[in-house]
Amino acid sequence: MYETEERRILTAAFQQEDQSTEPKLRPNALDSYIGQERVKENLRVFMEAAKQRKEPLDHVLLYGPPGLGKTTLSNIIANEMGVQLRTTSGPAIERAGDMAAILNSLNEGDILFIDEIHRLNRMIEEILYPAMEDFVIDIMIGKGSGARSVRLDLPKFTLIGATTRIGLLTAPLRDRFGVVHRLEPYQVEDLTKILLRSADVLQIKIEPEGAQEIARRSRGTPRIANRLLRRVRDFAQVRYEGVITQEVAAFALDLLEVDKAGLDQIDRKMLMAMIERFSGRPVGLDTLAASINEEAETIEDVYEPYLLQLGYIQRTPRGRVVTPRGYAHFGLKKAEKEE
Ligand code: ADE
Repeated sequence: MYETEERRILTAAFQQEDQSTEPKLRPNALDSYIGQERVKENLRVFMEAAKQRKEPLDHVLLYGPPGLGKTTLSNIIANEMGVQLRTTSGPAIERAGDMAAILNSLNEGDILFIDEIHRLNRMIEEILYPAMEDFVIDIMIGKGSGARSVRLDLPKFTLIGATTRIGLLTAPLRDRFGVVHRLEPYQVEDLTKILLRSADVLQIKIEPEGAQEIARRSRGTPRIANRLLRRVRDFAQVRYEGVITQEVAAFALDLLEVDKAGLDQIDRKMLMAMIERFSGRPVGLDTLAASINEEAETIEDVYEPYLLQLGYIQRTPRGRVVTPRGYAHFGLKKAEKEE
């Protein structure tokens, strides 16, 4: 319990720090957004077409692991379309009336960004259906036998929904998005470019090899890359005349216990539990979560995608298993046939 609480506080501290420097690091045009080429290409076409028709962009659903730029992309879309962005999140909207009020306050063409859209409750979600489809909402006026439904026209707007868990969206909501994109973890080359750009913005001296070393250990995630960049900068400043070389980056990241594959303590703890306690046999998500004192949801959203991407674990119908490559990370060899 204590450990989880501590991590929450740490995460909150990181998020605060992110909030102060992160906006500066966010590109605000599609051309300065690195990576996600397929998503960019598609969005370019859809935005151009919508502008030519003088219509708002179709509703967009962005999904994928946290930190890959769903919020950044929404900002860029608003900039490129020359419209206002209103931001909210699933858990922040508690009552149907809140949703109705937000929708009613939009201007023609505005973008409404709903983060963690899978956490909207069902009643609130149902307000979105006619809003997305026909730009109207039905609200109830009065109570009891005198209650009646009134239909309100809304301005034409674009909804951008973001979620780490597309599987939790109801089909009727998912089907109302015209554009659906999965954001993929970034390749090392792209993360290196992002780091060089961030270092430039933050006026941090860094060698390309230093950026590459950080990129390799950032689990494909710009948010993590930028966070590690700031940590490594501290080391460089205190011990190495302020320049981030490959050596400095490697040294600092080793001290931060981010290993050569970008795994942190929790990744390693999870893999080792699967190897030692479950002897490499398939293990269910909840069992695994309980055994390492983490939330199943955190494992699924944050840890698993990267371990799957590295090919260190696999999902099978009977549970998660560590692959031979996962064993090799610890210098271990997986037995040919496990009981
Ligand atoms: N900062 C965070 N994500 C980025 C991206 N995809 N391109 C450029 N800078 C970024």
